[in-house]
Amino acid sequence: MNTMDYMLREEKYGAHNYHPLPVVLKRGVGVFVWDVEEKRYFDFLSGYSALSQGHCHPKIVAALKTQAEQLTLVSRAFYSDRLGEYMKKACELFGYEKLLPMNSGAEAVETALKLARRWGYIKKGIPENEAKIIVCTNNFHGRTITIVSMSTDPDAYRGFGPYTPGFIKIPYNNVDALRQALQEPGVVGFLLEPIQGEAGVVVPDEGYLRSCFQLCTEQNVLFIADEIQTGIGRTGKLLACDHEEVHPDLLILGKALSGGISPVSAVLANDEIMLTIQPGEHGSTFGGNPLAAAIGIAALEVVEEERLAENAALMGDLFRTTLRHFQHPMITQVRGKGLLNAIVTTPRNGKSAWDICLALKENGLLAKPTHKDIIRFTPPLIISEKQMYEALEIIQQTFTQMK
Ligand SMILES: Cc1ncc(COP(=O)(O)O)c(C=O)c1O
Repeated sequence: MNTMDYMLREEKYGAHNYHPLPVVLKRGVGVFVWDVEEKRYFDFLSGYSALSQGHCHPKIVAALKTQAEQLTLVSRAFYSDRLGEYMKKACELFGYEKLLPMNSGAEAVETALKLARRWGYIKKGIPENEAKIIVCTNNFHGRTITIVSMSTDPDAYRGFGPYTPGFIKIPYNNVDALRQALQEPGVVGFLLEPIQGEAGVVVPDEGYLRSCFQLCTEQNVLFIADEIQTGIGRTGKLLACDHEEVHPDLLILGKALSGGISPVSAVLANDEIMLTIQPGEHGSTFGGNPLAAAIGIAALEVVEEERLAENAALMGDLFRTTLRHFQHPMITQVRGKGLLNAIVTTPRNGKSAWDICLALKENGLLAKPTHKDIIRFTPPLIISEKQMYEALEIIQQTFTQMK
C-alpha cells in the first residue's frame, strides 16, 4: 500500500471530522516522524502539544510496557498500587491537595465545570440551577455538548443545539469585561486558557492573568485555568499561569500529562473544592487506571529530569527571534511563548497557510494551519538547538519558495 491507498481507506471508513495533511505516518522518535515511504519529518504539531516529551520517549514507553504486563485497569471500584503514587506526584509538583483523574481533555474540562458549580451551590450558597461560569470568546475547551455551548466558533457549535445554559461569554484579554461580568448574580467561576491555543496562539497582555485572578479572588469566584495545551512546560514555565505567579483554584491538565502515549487528563484543586463531590457523583471507567498512572508519573518525571520548561523557553526565544528577523510578505506576525508559537500569514498570489503547510511537508516539516491564516508551531520540548536551527532553515526556505 502507498500513501494514497492509506488515505483513501481512512477517508472511506472514517468519519470526515478532520482535514489531515496528506501524509501517512508510521513511526516516531523524539522530534521526528517517518511516513510509510520512509521520508523523515520534523513534527512541529506534536499531537497538538501532547508529545512534549517527544515521540515514544523511552522512559515513558518503558513505564507503559512494565505496567501493561502487571495490571491495566481496576476502574476505581478498587484501589491500585499506582494511582496514589501518581496523584501524590502531581499534587506535589503543581501545588494542590487533590487530583481527580480523567482521560481526555474535554472530560477534564467537564469535570472542572461540575466542580465549580457544585462548589458554588455548597460553599457559596448559590440557589440551585442558577450557577454561572464566565468564559472567553474564541475559547477552545473541547467538543462535548456543554463545551461547544460555551464556544463562539460557529464551526464548533452550529447545528449541535440545544445548548447547555449557564455561561457568560466575555472578550478575551479584557479585564473590564470580567469586572462587569462578575457583577451578575450566581457567578461561580471564570474559565480561561492562559494563552488561547486553537484560536491561533493568542497571548494576552502581560498582567491580564494576574488582574483576572485578583478580581476573581475579591469576588469569591473560582479562577479555572485550562492548561491542557499551555501546561507542563510548553510555554517555558511548568504552567503558563506561573509567568504571572497565579495559582488557579482549579487547574485542568491533559495532553502532555501522558507524553502523548495515551489519553490522561486531570483536574487539580484543594480540598475545599474537590471534596464537594462525593462517591458516586462523578467518575470514569478508565480515569486513573494503573496504566495511565504509571505513564503519568513517568511523563512528569521526564519533564523535570530533562528540564523541558527551561528548554522550551530557550528554544522558543530562538524560534521567534529568528523568524521575526526574517522578512517575508506572507508573514504578518510571529507570536507565542516558549514553544507554543504561531505565524500569522497573509495569502499571496493565490497561496494560503494551507499551501505553506503542504510545502513545509515537502521540505520535511509538519505543521498545521489553525483558523485559516495562522500556522501553529509546537515542536516537542526536547528539541535541541541544532535541530531547531535545521527546522528554522526549512521554514525560511519554504517561505522563500512561496515568493
Ligand atoms: C485548551 C484545550 N482544552 C481542551 C482541549 C480538549 O482536549 P481533548 O481533545 O483531549 O478532549 C484542547 C484540545 O486541543 C485544548 O487545546
